[in-house]
Amino acid sequence: MADKKYYITTPIYYPSDKLHIGHSYTTVAADTMARYKRLRGYDVMFLTGTDEHGLKIQRKAEEKGLTPKQYVDEIVAGIKELWKLMKITNDKFIRTTDKQHEETVQKIFKKLYDQGDIYKSEYEGWYCTPCESFWTKTQLVDGKCPDCGREVELTKEESYFFRLSKYQDRLIKLLEENPDFIQPASRRNEMLNNFLRPGLEDLCVSRTTFNWGIPVTFDPGHVVYVWIDALSNYISALGYMTDNDADFKKFWPADAHLVGKEIVRFHTIIWPAMLMALGEPLPKQVYGHGWLLLEGGKMSKSKGNVVDPVVLVGKYGLDAIRYFLLREVPFGSDGIFNNEALINRINSDLANDLGNLVSRTVAMIDRYFDGTIPSFREPGVFDEDLINVVMKTPVEVERLMDELQFNLALSEIWKAISRTNKYIDETQPWVLSKDESKKGRLAQVLYNLAESIRIISVLIQPFMPETPEKIWEQLGINDKKLVEWDTVKTWGKFPESAKVNKGPALFPRIDLDKELDELGKIIGQRSNGQAAAEKKEAEVKTEEKEEKQAGMEKETLKENKEEVKEEKQEDYITIDEFAKIDLRVAKVLEAEKIEGADKLLKLKLELGDEVRQVVSGIAKYYKPEELVNKYVILVANLKPVKLRGVESQGMILAASTNKELVLVTVEKVIKSGTKIS
Ligand code: ME8
Ligand code: MG
Repeated sequence: MADKKYYITTPIYYPSDKLHIGHSYTTVAADTMARYKRLRGYDVMFLTGTDEHGLKIQRKAEEKGLTPKQYVDEIVAGIKELWKLMKITNDKFIRTTDKQHEETVQKIFKKLYDQGDIYKSEYEGWYCTPCESFWTKTQLVDGKCPDCGREVELTKEESYFFRLSKYQDRLIKLLEENPDFIQPASRRNEMLNNFLRPGLEDLCVSRTTFNWGIPVTFDPGHVVYVWIDALSNYISALGYMTDNDADFKKFWPADAHLVGKEIVRFHTIIWPAMLMALGEPLPKQVYGHGWLLLEGGKMSKSKGNVVDPVVLVGKYGLDAIRYFLLREVPFGSDGIFNNEALINRINSDLANDLGNLVSRTVAMIDRYFDGTIPSFREPGVFDEDLINVVMKTPVEVERLMDELQFNLALSEIWKAISRTNKYIDETQPWVLSKDESKKGRLAQVLYNLAESIRIISVLIQPFMPETPEKIWEQLGINDKKLVEWDTVKTWGKFPESAKVNKGPALFPRIDLDKELDELGKIIGQRSNGQAAAEKKEAEVKTEEKEEKQAGMEKETLKENKEEVKEEKQEDYITIDEFAKIDLRVAKVLEAEKIEGADKLLKLKLELGDEVRQVVSGIAKYYKPEELVNKYVILVANLKPVKLRGVESQGMILAASTNKELVLVTVEKVIKSGTKIS
């Protein structure tokens, strides 16, 4: 199986003493992928590490009265602890202060210099003497140092440069000929159009104004600057340019570099150019994921949002946190992390869907058959559809995992969970149990449930390091051979003689209101009054959410293909897509309340010669009389719907938070019906 190798990396992290849940995002994703590939029989190399050089670190250490190395040692120890807590299964951990890394970087620098890819010149910039920092013109704030606000001088510093411009054409060709090299596709276009096609400048790769970096061997006043040092980690960790380069030979090129979207440019322009210069193969793929936004945005209820990964894992368990990170947001898109969304996910997907399925099944096997399913079984109606749905899940999961579509892979697994829950409702084991002649049927139903859970438990392994074991313990599966990945491709591996063990709930349900209050106390930022007001709001929101969820579950059961399509990640829309929305200026002619609906107003809008009727949920924020003669913005080609029996022919735009809502209007009066573009 020598050819089945898989090399995956995260970026190396800047040592930060304020680690938040966003920092674990790339690492959890890479770990999930590494676990998945191992389960599929690959020989995996999973690398992470820390990026420890630079002026910033040097300064922070000085502030604390430590040497830079002492300062980073402590933080790096904390980062390693965090990865241990999150059960990250990296095979190597590289530090840019490792001796082997430093030596390899020096050799790379020398080789590139000797062959003319690095040359000495002058770096011109604005210099802040107290800060000892160079800034480019665009970095200055009002012509002053962006760090301290003091005067800067135009200065020249002797520097080495990497001939990045020389690789421009080859890089364009690389991106054009390998559409999969950068994922998601939107980022590839950004690189081509914003950076490569306008033209590349050579890159400054050494500095003389600070010394916390790797010295240039042949010019002692210089240290290697940032990207040559940092990017080389992906090969120095494998022993590149050393006598011990077996891992390099085996694992390079990388199969996937996972990086945040802000560093895609370095990984898809500078890094391939460096490798081209070194004459080494290029990584197969760079995946630029989105950001987890920690505050602000529509969903965040309070400023206090617990984001400390250690606290979160301690409170909700590792699997819940990992599940949330990968399920909530498509991997390429930005998403919001807040405690309310996390708790809602735990309650609905984990406690309700998965947890209840396992505990109900185990309880029924225990109650009706004293823990072991008898071997006399009668197949029946509903079996075939259950088996079909569950058996096609691994096929979809494998396809989606290979595309790093974690949220969609999880969504497929949760469809199988929903289908299995529905099977309980359909077959009604509690009714079968009352009729002695239905014992065979009851046994079959419970067997199918146990088998379905077995398959689900295998599929969730890459995402959840802890839950599968707990499920096997409860189901009485002792033989690990029965939960290997490929066993999901055969129905009926659930062991005949298994005896179930009732256990604690896999994911206890959380009381949202209480929990948000408690989290508020942890942060200590919310006054009691505020908490009480928010609590009330939370109640309302929960009700709404539950209604929505009920609706959504129905959709899932319908195996709605649309849902998958909708979840497909696309960060950008094209101008053509935007142009499909017909936005018009509209003048309010009349406004009135709708009986029995205290949130809604019925509006008559003038749209040039046309009059439209629109129902809008703004009654709490505007009185009908305030609206008359106002100019609003109408989505004019929205499919008409009936709200509370009243037809609404479009939608007017408003900006809203949980507490406020304001209508969008035009800056000056303009004829109603005017198109907005
Ligand atoms: O960039 N959401 O290191 P870094 C999602 N040393 N991802 C986040 C995040 C958030 N809120 N916050 C951080 C560096 N990350 C360089 C890399 S590689 C040769 C050198 C991710 O510590 C971020 O996008 O700033 C990146 O992928 C990783 O954490 C490390 O970021
Ligand atoms: Mg960063």
